[in-house]
Amino acid sequence: MSEAFDAVDIIRTKRDGGSLADDQIDWVIDAYTRDVVADEQMAALAMAILLRGMDRREIARWTAAMIDSGERMDFSSLPRPTADKHSTGGVGDKITLPLAPLVAACGAAVPQLSGRGLGHTGGTLDKLEAIPGWRASLSNDEMMRQLADVGAVVCAAGSGLAPADKKLYALRDVTGTVESIPLLASSIMSKKIAEGTGALVLDVKVGSGAFLKHPEHARELAETMVALGTDAGVRTVALITGMDTPLGRTAGNALEVRESLEVLAGGGPADVVELTLALAREMLAATGLDDVDPAERLADGSAMDVWRRMVAAQGGDPDADLPEAKETSAVVADADGVLERLDALAVGVAAWRLGAGRARQGEPVQAGAGVVLHAKPGDHVRAGQPLLTLHTDTPERFDRALSALTDTDGEGSAAWVIGAGDPGDSGDRADIVIDRVDA
Ligand code: URA
Repeated sequence: MSEAFDAVDIIRTKRDGGSLADDQIDWVIDAYTRDVVADEQMAALAMAILLRGMDRREIARWTAAMIDSGERMDFSSLPRPTADKHSTGGVGDKITLPLAPLVAACGAAVPQLSGRGLGHTGGTLDKLEAIPGWRASLSNDEMMRQLADVGAVVCAAGSGLAPADKKLYALRDVTGTVESIPLLASSIMSKKIAEGTGALVLDVKVGSGAFLKHPEHARELAETMVALGTDAGVRTVALITGMDTPLGRTAGNALEVRESLEVLAGGGPADVVELTLALAREMLAATGLDDVDPAERLADGSAMDVWRRMVAAQGGDPDADLPEAKETSAVVADADGVLERLDALAVGVAAWRLGAGRARQGEPVQAGAGVVLHAKPGDHVRAGQPLLTLHTDTPERFDRALSALTDTDGEGSAAWVIGAGDPGDSGDRADIVIDRVDA
């Protein structure tokens, strides 16, 4: 069949700073999905987009073309309003685990299509798979049934949803083109709009452990995604939240499930609780359920009840012991003082090297591997006290994990700074939400 456009012309247009016409965008996404545009051509176009950017019209059309590459789900037959949350990814970000059952316990239905970790950021599905028996793949019918019966489902996106994004995301991951705001925004929003949620709350991370390091870039991404969602009829709000230091006190799959259970039991680190409640309140406000107080549903055990039913509905045993790593090794403080910094990226890389993450798609992960933090910025520490404990089944990994923490820049800079500190400081600070973007 003769093709409407030539990929090379489209690449040249963007390379030279031009804007792509609607029919060029429609064609290039469709032709890439059909394997007519080759990976190397799409990689060149993605790099041109990263370097030259796209205007709002181009981003909206690119997103729509990715949605049209696959199916759209429809939750309108459910008796409850639907609300979903998406995080742009960070270290120790286990928020989906307590949040989905909490918001369901407040009366909304939460269809949470999640991904696996790649690189230093963890993936929600890998975390839940640490629970013996739990399965990530559900058919659309199973998902609908669980949403109707339990109110919350966390599962893998089926292959029919935005297949163009699936290909393009894998390509961006290996071509240094993840950190483009138009490509990030269209990737995330194409899946969320195709999923058919009525309301969406975005958690846009900023800081050393996030894709975007600068607040102004995070705000631009948040504004772009809120506009895309709103234009598609999805009530969309974004919170911009800090990711300079890990969220909570664990990074790693089973370790993070355990910490999430503490939150569902009414305890847990203050920053995890604060962010869970902030996102829950936004999701409830966006679905018109803002007369319910999510803090009460955590305290009275109803969120934990939904968690147990949600895990069991997907084959998991909520009472099973979680896997523990075979070996541990402590990293100790080298001075007395206040922990002023503990770098999220370094902790994420260490957890990844210990076996919590994968270097290539499809590799298995270790359920018990990861890092436990014994101090957070603001905490007083003493020389010789454990700062971190490294967990792995394969102790030959300790050295490389340790070097991620003790030599973050190839010049011997440690992931932490211990100084005189501010005497008023305390660890586990809850000032995690930096900014908010509404339609
Ligand atoms: N998550 C996505 O779904 N897409 C991206 O581009 C980055 C994170």
